Amino acid sequence: MVVLTVAIDGPAAAGKGTIAKALARELGLRHLDTGSLYRAVALRVLGGEDAVAVARGLGPDDLADPRLRQPEVAQEASRVAAIPEVRAALLDFQKAFARAEGGAVLDGRDIGTVVCPEAEVKLFVTASAEARAARRHAEQVAAGQESSLERTLAEIRARDARDEGRDHAPLRAAGDAVVIDTSGLGIDEAVARALGVARARLGR
Ligand code: CDP
Ligand code: CDP
Repeated sequence: MVVLTVAIDGPAAAGKGTIAKALARELGLRHLDTGSLYRAVALRVLGGEDAVAVARGLGPDDLADPRLRQPEVAQEASRVAAIPEVRAALLDFQKAFARAEGGAVLDGRDIGTVVCPEAEVKLFVTASAEARAARRHAEQVAAGQESSLERTLAEIRARDARDEGRDHAPLRAAGDAVVIDTSGLGIDEAVARALGVARARLGR
């Protein structure tokens, strides 16, 4: 069985999800947005439940909740993501998804370092905090949510600091990851670069 895994990591709103979806489509692979797992745990923690218990019993319905994209859920996600038992409870599902037949693209913070250290393709997608805040702010405005650029930038910085500073599976580029800085890139250009790296590595 031939299984190809593409690991995409990077900070909030760097363009990981956009690139991951495009690569999955172009290469015929399945896609998992691993941030949605941490967001799903966070949403139920905000509702008063225990983080570890929720992570151990997470189901498909939890991942379909439209409230997962709310800014307060993102902040709480980076708090629950620092709990080792939460990370451990979510690991098997991610590993199984990555290695199932057909191969997959996974995007998150620790895919190339912890979840799929053996991935055939590893990308670290990043951009300046200002560029990322502008994108997330524009998304929130387009979704009709109340948003301020200043607050969004502060939220992104707070989340970066938690994700980079935690003891377990901190956000960092794997030694063998190719770094793509999307600060000055449009979506098409960023996707084309990522696809070029993936095709070169996979030879297809
Ligand atoms: O998955 P991640 O949080 O890293 O980012 P995303 O959801 O793929 O992208 C965040 C926002 O930035 C989306 O609205 C994208 O359309 C936009 N984007 C962009 O403006 N330029 C890029 N090169 C990549 C994404
Ligand atoms: O879309 P965005 O990049 O804003 O965030 P996300 O990918 O949905 O991730 C939300 C939070 O989950 C992150 O800030 C991390 O704290 C955590 N996360 C993680 O620790 N490990 C992953 N593989 C994915 C997300």
